[in-house]
Amino acid sequence: MGIVLKGGNVVTATDNFISDVRIENEKIVAIGDNPVQENDEVIDVSGYYLLPGGIDCHTHFDLSVGSTKTADDFTSGTRAAIVGGTTTIIDYATQYKGETLSEALDNQFKKAHDCYCDYGFHMGITDWNDCTREEMALLVNKGITSFKLYMAYKNNLQVDDGVIYQVLKRSKEIGALVTFHCENGDVIDVLVKEAKANKHYEPIYHAKTRPEIVEKEAISRVIHLAKLADAPVYIVHLSTQSGLFEIVNGRKNNITIMAETCPQYLLLDDSYYERDGAKYVMSPPLRKIKDSSALWMGIGSGEIDTIATDHCSFNFKGQKDLGIDDFSKIPNGAPGVEDRLGLIYTYGVLEGKISLSQMVEITSTNPAKIFGLYPQKGTIEVGSDADIIVWDPEYETTIKASHQTQNVDYNPYEGFKRCGRVAYGFLRGKKIVKDGVIINNEPLGKFLQRKPFKGVM
Ligand code: URP
Ligand code: ZN
Ligand code: ZN
Repeated sequence: MGIVLKGGNVVTATDNFISDVRIENEKIVAIGDNPVQENDEVIDVSGYYLLPGGIDCHTHFDLSVGSTKTADDFTSGTRAAIVGGTTTIIDYATQYKGETLSEALDNQFKKAHDCYCDYGFHMGITDWNDCTREEMALLVNKGITSFKLYMAYKNNLQVDDGVIYQVLKRSKEIGALVTFHCENGDVIDVLVKEAKANKHYEPIYHAKTRPEIVEKEAISRVIHLAKLADAPVYIVHLSTQSGLFEIVNGRKNNITIMAETCPQYLLLDDSYYERDGAKYVMSPPLRKIKDSSALWMGIGSGEIDTIATDHCSFNFKGQKDLGIDDFSKIPNGAPGVEDRLGLIYTYGVLEGKISLSQMVEITSTNPAKIFGLYPQKGTIEVGSDADIIVWDPEYETTIKASHQTQNVDYNPYEGFKRCGRVAYGFLRGKKIVKDGVIINNEPLGKFLQRKPFKGVM
């Protein structure tokens, strides 16, 4: 017995057409007129869009930071994801100093239980040695085909240029992709010390000590090292106009550079640090309106490949207030996984900045292609996983933390209008969400073994 979604408007990265879609045994088995078979459940979805499930390729669930840990674990985080139309997340596992990559991966698997959407992992490398080099290939064999290097967070996660070069070279050999947090951590460290010596402790100093140029410089450096290693690179959470400029220029030199931005860099700006500023302490920080405008342009023109969230939630009360007297003690990060698609639909598609197909491309298809999940995920095609979001375009609401699924006491988009919602959310053919609410309380999410990086298609 299958399910037929009848009369919906199928939207992929390249197409937009009215059709029936039949699902059976976790897969899409037919697209076309009247594929109904005996005993099928038929759901009338006319007037709705059928979108491939969203892929958020940058989350941090159950992440320990200093003395605290993110408010969302894998269960609450993936529940929030699927309520908002995201059926796959790729979270960041981290190798802490002294750990092997295998230990770091085991720890991550222990955390990732009771998931409501499918999930994969990138691996953050912080401790480089010959053993790490060998283990990278083991991870690729296990489906962890991307790594992250931090150019910031000095004395903690940050790696130096020699490590960057070696990880790039090794990744090229084994078919992995390296993702980069681009901020110059050495300079930030000095700027933070200077700010505190001058008795500046307010949250706005988080932004002032991480100026635009520290991102631009780090992106430029990574691009030079990528050229030297002849390896592709993926820049996470791009926040600035000048960083985008470096990327666009770098591509002219035949270097494969992919770029991700996040809703916070498109919709919020540094004026938010003036009230409850700790809520917006994240790295990189919020920027100027000219940066958001440049990033929207970059999305429209295809210069930016993906929109993820960098979801990394800490409660305002009890966690963000660890830094009440000192901005540098505020845990970095903010929530976003639940509202990503609604925000991009409302402020991107409905405001005419991008088409619905472009929204599908940057929130689902491109992440699937870049991170080795396509065409299993990221599209509506016969043979693909039946991760389908039936999107109700007429629904409109106001974002309120008091109504959210994610397990955190604030929402950075509080009071924002949000149009569209998940009328039905299917994960591998199972109906999980109806009208924005989880109706199947079984955690059916599975670990995804991703394929090696093969270049951008
Ligand atoms: O502030 C942020 N972004 N926290 C999460 C870790 C990271 O740098 O991506
Ligand atoms: Zn980062
Ligand atoms: Zn992150």
